[in-house]
Amino acid sequence: MTGTLFSPFDLGDIALANRVVMAPLTRNRAGPGLVPSLLAPEYYAQRASAGLIITEATQVSPQAQGYQNTPGIYTPEQVAAWRRVTDAVHAKGGRIFVQLWHVGRVSHVDLHDGKAPVAPSAIRPEAKTFVNNAFVDVSEPRALELDEIPGIVESFRSSAANAIEAGFDGVEVHGANGYLLDQFLRETANARTDAYGGSIENRARLLLEVVAAVADEIGAGRTGVRLSPVSPASGIVPSGDEQPQFNHVVEALNGLGIAYIHVVEGATGGPRDAAPFDYDALRQRFGNTYIANNGYNLELANSRLGDGKADLIAFGHDFIANPDLVERLKTGTPLAQMEMATIYGGGAQGYTDYPASIASMDA
Ligand SMILES: Cc1cc2nc3c(=O)[nH]c(=O)nc-3n(C[C@H](O)[C@H](O)[C@H](O)COP(=O)(O)O)c2cc1C
Repeated sequence: MTGTLFSPFDLGDIALANRVVMAPLTRNRAGPGLVPSLLAPEYYAQRASAGLIITEATQVSPQAQGYQNTPGIYTPEQVAAWRRVTDAVHAKGGRIFVQLWHVGRVSHVDLHDGKAPVAPSAIRPEAKTFVNNAFVDVSEPRALELDEIPGIVESFRSSAANAIEAGFDGVEVHGANGYLLDQFLRETANARTDAYGGSIENRARLLLEVVAAVADEIGAGRTGVRLSPVSPASGIVPSGDEQPQFNHVVEALNGLGIAYIHVVEGATGGPRDAAPFDYDALRQRFGNTYIANNGYNLELANSRLGDGKADLIAFGHDFIANPDLVERLKTGTPLAQMEMATIYGGGAQGYTDYPASIASMDA
């Protein structure tokens, strides 16, 4: 089904007003108990004209945390606060999925009472995390024991159940950007010799078990997955052999009947042609919705939709300074630029105080 960015789209049973997706954006404003910010309902409601909002990455357990002040969805207080967010978005006619996240080795001992972050293998990436109000090197991780893996799967399953309780329309499993599930996919991060490493099938096992558990819990039609096949994000070292790995993953995800795959094409927030990769091979292996992301503007979005290469287009940083991004794209209103200093942490400044354009206020 081709169309323009502004035509409606049925994401399974979920009717979207347009093809613009707000990509997940970490903002580090959660309060005590890693409860979403009191300003989060307003922030997301301001952006509810997107066809679909995907929230900032959200921890499935205390172990899943890698940065300061990122929210969770594993306590009753967190679930109650997310309910205020989903109510605010739904009141404005929007749709919203939560991105479920385990950072794995991209973390720091200071967030875990001095204990090492967990990973497929004890391989420390060249990556930074944000703790104690500063960017610092991640800590040396330890390899997960085989008998710890069911607990990881369970934390995604129970968080998905919490997401439905909180009123989300669905969940996106974060399988991208060098975090735990992506770490398992990579030869350069996963040196395991058990059922979770050593072959394409074994490296994909954890991601697929997590997605199957989430889909079983809340329905495949409410489940999506984010992937970033060639992104070096969070210290992922490319193997040059990503195509067969991701072809296999997407074939298996197709077999699970999930609603969508959300593909970061190229280096996250960087060049789209960071490494050769055939994204069409993924699209052809997947029967349901393909969300494309990374470096899109109106022209590229409409060209990829028109060619049938994507069904929905996710915009990331443009949504930070342009709450009414859909309207601005539609009317050709120039886009505001985000202020770097207020991206991560703080309060309303650089979060809920970006104005809508005059054009959209008149609309
Ligand atoms: C401030 C910021 C925070 C981000 N947080 C997340 C996140 O929580 N989860 C995720 O999957 N990607 C995250 N990303 C990546 C974006 O979702 C998106 O892939 C990237 O910005 C490229 O899209 P764009 O060119 O439209 O900005 C983040 C990007 C930015 C700029």
